[in-house]
Amino acid sequence: MVAIKTNDFKLITAKPFAPNLGADIYGVDLSQPVPDDQFAEIKAAFHQYQVLFFREQKEIPPARHIAFGKRFGPLHAHPAAPTMDGFPEIFEIHATKDSKIANGEFWHSDVSCDEVPPLGTMLQIHIAPPCGGDTMFSDMYAAYDDLSQPLKDMLDGLTALHSSEHIYKGRYSDRGRNDAEIDCPEAVHPIVRTHPDTGRKALFVNRTFTTRIVGLSDSESAAILEMLFTHAEHINYQIRFRWSLNDMAFWDNRCCMHRAIWDYWPEERKGRRVTIKGDRPV
Ligand code: SIN
Repeated sequence: MVAIKTNDFKLITAKPFAPNLGADIYGVDLSQPVPDDQFAEIKAAFHQYQVLFFREQKEIPPARHIAFGKRFGPLHAHPAAPTMDGFPEIFEIHATKDSKIANGEFWHSDVSCDEVPPLGTMLQIHIAPPCGGDTMFSDMYAAYDDLSQPLKDMLDGLTALHSSEHIYKGRYSDRGRNDAEIDCPEAVHPIVRTHPDTGRKALFVNRTFTTRIVGLSDSESAAILEMLFTHAEHINYQIRFRWSLNDMAFWDNRCCMHRAIWDYWPEERKGRRVTIKGDRPV
């Protein structure tokens, strides 16, 4: 049983989305510069709730979106995704009736295949389908906490390979990125990582990028990974966010996974995403 979190923020309103993770944030206008004292509360709420949903927003100008992201640290460049004209820091999420794929349709932590994967991702949706197009999030602290002690002891010493060739090759070719231009990074990360700001341990494997556990046989690796993926995707750790136009979600890739639902074809959905560089997982 998870205790519902309380907060005493003064310059923002944070309403818990669910007992496990997430908060709706009111009282912030991201289309304007955010004052330092309000920013400090946003950062504290981000560490407390893992994913923030900034409600009642106007469309954020691209330069302001980039500037807000940079207050959390240097930005991360996606190895393969198409960027917005004139704003290489912005990854445009766009699905239309002609799309062959949408973005992020399977559980993942963004670009976990990078040596230094992103700290967090800020996505604002500017064109929303009449219904559908929700995004799901899963709490990887809780997924770790609920494991039995013998399994924690085993996983604490293990690392896993995160690969991307099977994901990125050809993925964005219909949006002007061909395989000659893109990188398909891979990296080995601990299966359990410690969050640099909260000190909490989180499970750090995902069905999209994590391809094998280092040092185990193929069958051991496949069986344990499947068990961990299924565990981390348990409904008790999840929330499902329904977007309103111009909502901005900001999620912490170090302690939650997410998955976008493409149930709205042939309708259109479009948004802009800025991603912040993180630390090497430890
Ligand atoms: C993603 O960034 O993985 C996609 C999220 C979304 O489109 O809701």
